Amino acid sequence: MDIRKFSEVGILDHYDSVVIGAPMIFGWHAVARRFIRRNRKLLAGKNLAYFACALRLTKDQKETTNSIPLFIDPGLVSQPQKTGSLNIKERFTTIGHYLTPMLNSAPDLKPVSVAFFNGKLDLRRLKWWQVLFVLGVVQGKPGDYRDWDFIKRWSRSLSQVI
Ligand SMILES: Cc1cc2nc3c(=O)[nH]c(=O)nc-3n(C[C@H](O)[C@H](O)[C@H](O)COP(=O)(O)O)c2cc1C
Repeated sequence: MDIRKFSEVGILDHYDSVVIGAPMIFGWHAVARRFIRRNRKLLAGKNLAYFACALRLTKDQKETTNSIPLFIDPGLVSQPQKTGSLNIKERFTTIGHYLTPMLNSAPDLKPVSVAFFNGKLDLRRLKWWQVLFVLGVVQGKPGDYRDWDFIKRWSRSLSQVI
């Protein structure tokens, strides 16, 4: 198994399976989406899985299920303030809002699994406008919320499908 930053990925031909991960930064990180778009032909013949880390995922009752198996860290999920209707911030953090652009990076590709992990927030690393967004819209709180057991469980579950 090789672990690479996007900028260090070499020739993909050697791999049967590829797991692509990135944080939610105004949606799934643009680098991940660009990587998938640019390599979509090479990725087409491979077993694929995606993961994202985030700080908020709002439960949407109108969510339509699609056929891709989703693994969502329960610690990441929050209920909307009002049952049955989402405010503008909540609409920004639904599974649909996250997943659609992830899959649209290359609509022909079908990952065998998509995971959403709870992430971490260190405000000292951020610019002021990023702080405004992540506190005001995402409503994240500083801290490290990564659940390594959940992450390991997902990794193990992948070995059954890729
Ligand atoms: C500018 C910015 C935008 C973000 N956008 C979202 C978002 O839309 N939804 C979300 O749940 N988390 C969002 N986050 C939180 C990150 O996904 C989270 O902090 C993640 O753990 C960052 O990964 P890293 O620690 O590997 O950089 C955002 C963070 C920043 C700084």
